[in-house]
Amino acid sequence: SAMDSTGYFAALAELGTQCRNAYMLGRETRVPAVADLSTVVVTGLGGSAIGGDLLRVYCQERLRVPVTVNRDYTLPAFVGKKTLVFAVSYSGNTEETLSAYQQAREKGATIVALTSGGKLAALAAADGVPVIRVPAGLAPRAATGYLFIPMLAVLEGLGMLDGIEAEVEELARELAHYATTYGLGSPVAQNPAKQLALNFKGRLPIIWGASGTTEVVAQRWKGQINENAKAPAYWNAFPELNHNEIVGFEEPAELIRQLWVVILRDKGDHVRVGYRMEITRRVIEGKVAGVTEVTSTGEGMLARLYSLIYLGDWASVYLAMLYGIDPGPVKVIDYLKGELA
Ligand code: F6R
Repeated sequence: SAMDSTGYFAALAELGTQCRNAYMLGRETRVPAVADLSTVVVTGLGGSAIGGDLLRVYCQERLRVPVTVNRDYTLPAFVGKKTLVFAVSYSGNTEETLSAYQQAREKGATIVALTSGGKLAALAAADGVPVIRVPAGLAPRAATGYLFIPMLAVLEGLGMLDGIEAEVEELARELAHYATTYGLGSPVAQNPAKQLALNFKGRLPIIWGASGTTEVVAQRWKGQINENAKAPAYWNAFPELNHNEIVGFEEPAELIRQLWVVILRDKGDHVRVGYRMEITRRVIEGKVAGVTEVTSTGEGMLARLYSLIYLGDWASVYLAMLYGIDPGPVKVIDYLKGELA
């Protein structure tokens, strides 16, 4: 949906409130207990899939069953009666997600639909599938609270996670604090989001996180730069990037001078990954245009991940401003969906 940058800034500033509301929506939803639950699958695309990755990373050390994210028309063969499937589409009209939903029905999975309406809401209502209906009118990527937190609340309601409410409270406080730091009123000298946008301008952002923690943040930053600033960006994760990508910083030197690298750190990173980040930084410094290192803040995993996501969200909107671009419309995505219709 189209939205000018003013609306965009407003949605960003209200993200903390959105997360609180999202938690309540999830808690209110009745989901039947799944006997002998073996896997959780989140099926969705783009802005509706990244919440699945947040869930996967969040649950890695906390949930006794694996969380898999599915970005396709079809579901993996392991999906069956012991699977809980979250079918997530903000619009409710994404064809891949509708197809995966039908397959989940055929396989007898327990399904929860997370959507603002569309065909998915109608199908789920007709099928007697629980629907978590989130407010419409946002760009999916501006609805990340709505497209992630309700799933945590459902898993908490099923007795598989606990302490989520307290973590959401910490998150909302953290976001309110950062809304001032990163907001329009905060001058460049004190505003890391504006500084990052200036560093990215005219360059190619390369965003690096760590497996199991900030990998999902790196992926989110990339997507936000793509969709808001309409600019290319790439992401990868430690330690894997130490085994291939790191070799690719020799040629062509003039291209490498146009890269701006961001390293995202978290206290949950493996200690050896921390060393790898420091060594890698020394290897590329002087070759690339610059390196920014950012460390998450907060106690709980939710606040920590979002402290970094939020910085990237703001930076990507400032980059759009620097390019004179409206962050709202994603015309190419709309064009593609139209051509396929
Ligand atoms: C993000 C965005 C896309 C959509 C994706 C799927 O702002 O516009 O990444 O999220 O095309 O559409 P939905 O989320 O409606 O299922």
